Amino acid sequence: MFSGKATIITGANKNLGKQTAEAFAKEGSDLLLHYHSSSSAAETKKLADELAKKYGVTTATYQGDLSTEDATSGLFDLGIKSFGKVDFAINNVGMVLRKSLADISLDEYNKMISVNVTASFLFLREAERKLAQDGSVVMLTTSLLGAYTDGYSVYQAAKSAVYWLTKTASKDTKKKITYNCISPGPMDTPFLYGQENDQRIEFFKTQAVNGRLTEVQDIVPIIKFIVKDGKWMTGQNLYANNGFTAPSA
Ligand SMILES: NC(=O)c1ccc[n+]([C@@H]2O[C@H](COP(=O)([O-])OP(=O)(O)OC[C@H]3O[C@@H](n4cnc5c(N)ncnc54)[C@H](OP(=O)(O)O)[C@@H]3O)[C@@H](O)[C@H]2O)c1
Repeated sequence: MFSGKATIITGANKNLGKQTAEAFAKEGSDLLLHYHSSSSAAETKKLADELAKKYGVTTATYQGDLSTEDATSGLFDLGIKSFGKVDFAINNVGMVLRKSLADISLDEYNKMISVNVTASFLFLREAERKLAQDGSVVMLTTSLLGAYTDGYSVYQAAKSAVYWLTKTASKDTKKKITYNCISPGPMDTPFLYGQENDQRIEFFKTQAVNGRLTEVQDIVPIIKFIVKDGKWMTGQNLYANNGFTAPSA
């Protein structure tokens, strides 16, 4: 399905990014796997080697703090250098904080904006500059954009900004690149558990029709759909949460 295509996936060493990488490799896409923490170098290299061997695709890895201009530029440059072109770019970079607004320090706020908003701005900018004609970009936002809740002020504000950057990029494009967001429900990864207690997790489960959290594997097919069969759709935010929240109109 993705034979002859090349994909950049950020945060590709674990959780949603890793499962997306496996799915794209299985469909024949070459892959540039980004990871952030230097301690993840060996496991990311191992994953890249395994995917290359198992599915016969070309893979490369890249470490970087993608809230910096040079790192994001270097990511896309390596994609082009490795594969000749890049068709798809999937951005998993994110940071979450659940805390009352009055208790959030300016440093915490600045970090949240840097990792969620600045990194997304740079990713979108490099994508428009460096992706191939008719490429596709998928940005990860959150179903909390449809929720009226406590504690997530800066996370919601930041992911809301990601949505608007993405939406406008979809109109600005000179290359017919599609730009879309996916907003998963509370997803069964350490990213969620770091912020939540057992009682709230149990409540989240009751809000899904199937009575469980969103799993990474619920989201991967939607990413594939957006870049392949969903090419007529752009500037959208897909709430993928089995009924947890929905946009108000
Ligand atoms: N889990 C949920 O409940 C949930 C729900 C809705 C949406 N989402 C979104 O889905 C995406 C994937 O989340 P996940 O649950 O799969 O968790 P995850 O694997 O922890 O994804 C977040 C990624 O962002 C990376 N990152 C953080 N700061 C970075 C920086 N400065 N530069 C580059 N990369 C950086 C992390 O790397 P390090 O860990 O090495 O720093 C990690 O790979 C995120 O954007 C998240 O906001 C998650």
